[in-house]
Amino acid sequence: MRRYDGEAVVNDVSLSIQPGHVTCLLGPSGCGKSTTLRMIAGVEMQDSGTIHVDGHLICDTVFRVPPERRKIGLMFQDFALFPHLSVGENVAFGLKGAGAEKRRRALDLLDRVGLAHFIDEYPHQLSGGEQQRVALARALAPKPRIMLMDEPFSGLDNRLRDGIRDETLDVLKEEGASVLLVTHEPEEAMRMADEIALMRAGKIVQRGAPYNIYNAPADKAAVAFFSDINTLRGKVQGALTDTPFGRFLAPGVPDGASVEIVFRPQHVSIDFDRDGRGPNPTVIAGTPARGLVERARFMGSESLIEFRMDYDDTILKATVPNVFLPKPGTPLWLSVRRDRCFVFPVRS
Ligand SMILES: Nc1ncnc2c1ncn2[C@@H]1O[C@H](COP(=O)(O)OP(=O)(O)OP(=O)(O)O)[C@@H](O)[C@H]1O
Ligand SMILES: [Mg+2]
Repeated sequence: MRRYDGEAVVNDVSLSIQPGHVTCLLGPSGCGKSTTLRMIAGVEMQDSGTIHVDGHLICDTVFRVPPERRKIGLMFQDFALFPHLSVGENVAFGLKGAGAEKRRRALDLLDRVGLAHFIDEYPHQLSGGEQQRVALARALAPKPRIMLMDEPFSGLDNRLRDGIRDETLDVLKEEGASVLLVTHEPEEAMRMADEIALMRAGKIVQRGAPYNIYNAPADKAAVAFFSDINTLRGKVQGALTDTPFGRFLAPGVPDGASVEIVFRPQHVSIDFDRDGRGPNPTVIAGTPARGLVERARFMGSESLIEFRMDYDDTILKATVPNVFLPKPGTPLWLSVRRDRCFVFPVRS
């Protein structure tokens, strides 16, 4: 646990990272990700709790292995290379031993990130992406067992970022380092992680493989963190709840309690209105409900349509691939993939 001004900003976080795995600490701004990383690195003291590496205690509230002896590599967003040192000297900076040996290791790592030819250049002669790769080589040079990376790709433009992410992953896997990567971008976590730890307000709310976090989210906010959402509300009777889209199971929820049924816009399908009637109900798609188009926008690879629903004027969103831009006021029928709906009890 870590407090600032009496307020716990990281609280009861239990996180283990697997050897050779990339674990992403994912959460909104201010939730305590960097603070967690700084405690593991040893540049900040926790107020309570312990940290172990390979089963050895490296830190509790009394005993503390200094940061430089933790075999932990650090890469932060503002990775600042030393401007007065050459690329090779930057990479070799944390190494001990003879000059020739250090240069060999630096060359090897620069080669790995595709920058061996820059060894005698200076940082200002490199592009942002190249500097980022040098910073990666520098962090890896002392062979850290664990790499801590705090939003390391956030300074790069989108195109460059995808390439560097993939290269970075390859190098980290080759080196066999365990990686803890902090990000607030779900796409980055989905792309990089073997395991995601979803963090909110100083706590870890869910952990798992990207697929599981996306498809079996712990709560409504976990769904909403990865995409737009739609919400239906219902009261439970006999572990079932009735909605305009038909009945949903609400196992384990007591009679009279409220639930929210949450689903993503891409799991809504759209049918035309035929004289006030929609498609027939099916097991997979449930009962359709009618709405009027409120607004339709083309987003590039898909179209986003917002509907004002007949049943109570709720706005629901649907996305469909390619171009589909019905006029505002057009009546259409929506169905929801029932196997992609999440039912959560509403805490009062
Ligand atoms: N040195 C400090 N003194 C006081 N409060 C701090 C300090 N460092 C961080 N905080 C507060 O602790 C909370 C968590 O901060 P932290 O930097 O860990 O968030 P984060 O999840 O990394 O956010 P971001 O995605 O914006 O980097 C924030 O509310 C922040 O204002
Ligand atoms: Mg941060």
